[in-house]
Amino acid sequence: MTEQNKLNDFKRRPIRSYILRQGRITSGQTKAIQECFVKHAVVFEKKLINFDDIFKIKDTHTILEIGFGMGTSTAEIAKLNPRYNYLAVEVHSPGVGNLLKLIQENNISNLKIIQHDAVEVLNFMIKDDSLDGIHIFFPDPWPKKRHHKRRLIQSDLLAVITKKIKKSGYLHIATDWEDYALWIIDLLDKEKFIQRASDNFFEKPDYRPLTKYENRGIKLGYKVWDMIYRRV
Ligand SMILES: C[S@@+](CC[C@H](N)C(=O)[O-])C[C@H]1O[C@@H](n2cnc3c(N)ncnc32)[C@H](O)[C@@H]1O
Repeated sequence: MTEQNKLNDFKRRPIRSYILRQGRITSGQTKAIQECFVKHAVVFEKKLINFDDIFKIKDTHTILEIGFGMGTSTAEIAKLNPRYNYLAVEVHSPGVGNLLKLIQENNISNLKIIQHDAVEVLNFMIKDDSLDGIHIFFPDPWPKKRHHKRRLIQSDLLAVITKKIKKSGYLHIATDWEDYALWIIDLLDKEKFIQRASDNFFEKPDYRPLTKYENRGIKLGYKVWDMIYRRV
């Protein structure tokens, strides 16, 4: 590829909400990917998923999680709610390896992973009106103004998200970055097809365990905002 083509290719690329760094991956995480990926992951394809084809339990609630990080709270939620199905999306291999390990060790059968950009997963793999809930816990805040365009929560994405959630399904976003919380609330309040689930929407509901990222913030004295909206 010539330098000019590389530059054109770079310009065409959409703005991503993450940067793929090599990162450290442990031997246990690598082993889990080698041994369990086929069993517990779904490969990204530009094709709609039929949830009944990938989950053992048919005809039940399906919750999508975007950006599960190391997946500890994801595994906990799936374990606590064995009658619901969970589809968890993350781009980073150490997190994918870690969650595969947790699924295997805890014998979790209602949780599948997709390692890919969640924006594309939503656009290409998820049917409209098919999700009972979407969890987005501590999306990267991208605090610098010049990086705000990288924030995952944008009006375009919210328009897609609201199409994918069934009527009366929910969207739950949590953040510990005040400026991002205000940004998210502003966008959510403008969305026509979702409404605040209740007046006390800043309180953490019991079903959400503390996440790894959140714990780090709490130690630094950060406050947490949980925003829960319902599809109308
Ligand atoms: C700040 S971390 C929070 C992780 C986890 N939810 C927690 O609370 O511990 C945000 C995560 O979102 C992931 N992420 C960001 N944009 C994403 C995207 N478009 N698709 C999938 N994952 C994404 C990042 O790789 C990162 O692991």
